[in-house]
Amino acid sequence: MVIAQTQTAADLAQTDGSASVPSHVAIIMDGNGRWAKARGLPRVAGHRAGVQAVRRTIEAAIKHHVGWLTLYAFSSENWRRPAAEVSDLTGLLRRFIKSELAELDANGVRLMVIGDRGRFDADLQAELARAEATTRNNTNLTLIVALSYGARAEIVTAVQAALAEITAGRLDIASLDEASFGRLLSTGDIPDPDVILRTSGEQRLSNFLLWQSAYAELVFTDVLWPDFTEEHFAAALAEYARRERRFGARPG
Ligand code: FPP
Repeated sequence: MVIAQTQTAADLAQTDGSASVPSHVAIIMDGNGRWAKARGLPRVAGHRAGVQAVRRTIEAAIKHHVGWLTLYAFSSENWRRPAAEVSDLTGLLRRFIKSELAELDANGVRLMVIGDRGRFDADLQAELARAEATTRNNTNLTLIVALSYGARAEIVTAVQAALAEITAGRLDIASLDEASFGRLLSTGDIPDPDVILRTSGEQRLSNFLLWQSAYAELVFTDVLWPDFTEEHFAAALAEYARRERRFGARPG
């Protein structure tokens, strides 16, 4: 992974104050299947090409000084795909973690996983835990991989946790607020995403970070995920910088 030393959005912000770099970009990587179909290839070829786009995107996030990058790699609904495709996806993920861990670590990337990881094979769970432990002190970029993730299930789990605390007398109902509830989500102390980007022309959140996306800028691009490059990433950052964010407040 080679990080090019060219001028980035953050550098521009420092020099003319005009650009605002998002701290956290979350991506719904979509279009692998259509990319493969357009080439007469099996769907797994699209997912393989998607892994290359993941590599490019991690490099782009580091280069552009985005501190947090979340990738929706496997949704809770993806378990309903044919067993062979589920196996292809988990195999790619396993190989990615094994082959990239040393390089991610060398580039200062901290890996975190959100979602119901207990549904994966024990060996993959162990690989994920090892990768998280190895990289936990890195500070260049936090890469959050959403696996077997669904936002509604995540919220229900947090409600159950809050009720358990209240029932045990450890939490007072009145002190449960947005901040304390947010900490019970799988994203815990991770800052909310500033940008949610979806590729392939679809314009839906598909059960991704529903609580956390309350004030996120939504950016959609027609590019299919395997074709996604640093230029597309930079274009999304530029789109974010153009938008005026008011968090519900009236214009001054
Ligand atoms: C959506 O395309 C993409 C996925 C379901 C999986 C994304 C996974 C990867 C990019 C590879 C593994 C990830 C990592 C982090 C190594 P789709 O199959 O729904 O495409 P379609 O809508 O065109 O059919």
